[in-house]
Amino acid sequence: MQTGSGFFRPESRPSRDLSVLLAAHQASRAQGPQHWLDLMAGCGIRGLRWGLEGAPQSPHPLALWLNDADPERMDLLQANLKPLSGLAGVDLTFSQQPAERLLRQAYLDQRRFDLIDLDAFGCPNGLLQSALSVLRFGGVLILASTDGRSPTGHDRVAAVRRFAAAARAHPSSWELALRLQLAALAREAWMLGRGLEPLACFSDGRTFRLAVRLHRRIGADEEGSLGLLARCEHCGDQAVQPVLKLSGWRACACRADSGRWAVSGPLWLGPLQSPALLQELLNLSEAMPHTMALPSRRLLERLQGDPGLPVCCWSTDELAQRLGLAGPPPLHRLVQALQSEGYWAGVSGVMAGQLRTDAPWKVLLQRCADLA
Ligand SMILES: C[S@@+](CC[C@H](N)C(=O)[O-])C[C@H]1O[C@@H](n2cnc3c(N)ncnc32)[C@H](O)[C@@H]1O
Repeated sequence: MQTGSGFFRPESRPSRDLSVLLAAHQASRAQGPQHWLDLMAGCGIRGLRWGLEGAPQSPHPLALWLNDADPERMDLLQANLKPLSGLAGVDLTFSQQPAERLLRQAYLDQRRFDLIDLDAFGCPNGLLQSALSVLRFGGVLILASTDGRSPTGHDRVAAVRRFAAAARAHPSSWELALRLQLAALAREAWMLGRGLEPLACFSDGRTFRLAVRLHRRIGADEEGSLGLLARCEHCGDQAVQPVLKLSGWRACACRADSGRWAVSGPLWLGPLQSPALLQELLNLSEAMPHTMALPSRRLLERLQGDPGLPVCCWSTDELAQRLGLAGPPPLHRLVQALQSEGYWAGVSGVMAGQLRTDAPWKVLLQRCADLA
């Protein structure tokens, strides 16, 4: 396998491993021929691994399409995909088109894909509608965005342009970015009259990665997942409201009358992961011992253990800072203390050293102080 210059990043292996497992999972539940599209293929590593590791999970034929707009990638792509040419049941197509054109032409040609990988540079939102339009019901879209500034509150004007949303600085900024991206995806799916289910969402702070499933129908109360997240920088308190039930904000912990909230959203307030699917992927990986590297397994296990609810997350560093502690409180003991009082609490799978809970802010601070 030749990686060529520029775009292959060894550090992206967890996202590639997940992509291969999702492909294998799609293959294992296939009722007929599969159509998979690697829209921005780079050197073709994903397509190659889909074909070698994912496709054998299905008895049905696979049509695998690799595209990259850069014409200089084509020789490399074709050379790298050689191991798949002539493989029984695998039909390969290569193209060098802008993704925008390929997707719109595919729609006109009434093509539908069971799996699309959109591994973009920058913000992919301009492509969401056309990608979802050619995704089969039950199909999976694997999306990457390297736009780290606008959804994390560092470029608020661009957030309005790209997400039609307010994005404010927040200690759980990676999660905020994922929730803004999910909201953008959900709106596009809903405009097509379709439902959206998050399967896996994670980030390394540089790239924001999401896998979602498109459903024929919008789920019960799916629109109730769109809402706003408010945080008071002064006292640290947080609050959420679904857009459908939007009313005035309650007071934050530092003022009796009204909050000094910095509000982000609309963003996705629903789950970030599908623990059931992630468990199935972990099970599937047992039969595919070379597919998943150890860091990828750890990532999947972390995400599997944290569905992404409730929405409010706190960093233990922030808690320690606010209480004037020498160091962060022990995360697992803090979670246990909150659980033992009947609150929902869990370790965040998205950002290290953070917990999510529905405990009121003052209770959280008190339990943290108790552990000091
Ligand atoms: C992040 S790299 C892909 C990396 C690859 N998926 C991997 O896992 O190694 C993005 C690729 O998208 C291609 N690209 C950028 N804009 C594009 C567009 N509008 N349409 C199609 N390909 C595009 C670039 O040439 C580049 O090879």
